[in-house]
Amino acid sequence: EQQESLSLPLKGKKVLVTAGPTRERVDPVRFFTNFSTGKMGYAFAQKARELGANVILVSGPVTIDPPSGIKVIQTESAQEMYEAVMKELDNVDVVIKTAAVADYRPAVFHDQKMKKKEGPLSIEMERTKDILGEIGKVKTDQFVVGFAAETNEPIHYGKQKLAKKNADAIVVNNVAEAGAGFGADTNVVTYLNKHGLEWSLPLQSKEDVAHKILIQVSDELKDGQK
Ligand code: CTP
Ligand code: CA
Repeated sequence: EQQESLSLPLKGKKVLVTAGPTRERVDPVRFFTNFSTGKMGYAFAQKARELGANVILVSGPVTIDPPSGIKVIQTESAQEMYEAVMKELDNVDVVIKTAAVADYRPAVFHDQKMKKKEGPLSIEMERTKDILGEIGKVKTDQFVVGFAAETNEPIHYGKQKLAKKNADAIVVNNVAEAGAGFGADTNVVTYLNKHGLEWSLPLQSKEDVAHKILIQVSDELKDGQK
């Protein structure tokens, strides 16, 4: 029992991971998206499973293969991802929100392909739902880890997001730093929790980042200090 809690610290826990970008369609052949490849989230899903968790991966469109042994729910838009996450939320213990969710979508979806015209084009955009923010409003005892991709003042903005979205922790990622950009196999992050912990993880593989953060989360769950 003691041994197992050391090697499988997430045994018996249900972990929901969101990963990848979202796509916001403007017509049948075009969409808005971002550079997320899903690698960080897929590494979390894989490591959570290795640490004994029951894993659900809600994934935007990516080209990498999902790890085996986990339930995968494929989504496209921010709205679809929101609905998939909310459906599972009551049944999970931990939420890891690595997905790069679009903040805006075209206000109008054109059923027919938009034809080009002379001169510039403006497309009106409207806000999508902030999935992490919505989780923060309705969560009960789930431990929720958000991410923050920043190009400047990452700790400052990370702390703001931690408070504003009522998360238990935020992993800040300075995407301007070498080895931390979208699509890299490595990352450089700082883990901030709501008790004021500020823990810097130096450049390392996304698998190692995921492993270390999941161990930290399982420790915080055990301490019940969430
Ligand atoms: N997030 C989300 N739904 C959105 C936008 C963001 O759930 N519509 C989540 C991301 O999955 C991430 C966290 O919020 O875990 C922070 O995302 P980020 O883009 O860094 O922050 P925003 O709040 O969107 O603010 P901004 O992009 O203006 O920095
Ligand atoms: Ca954003």
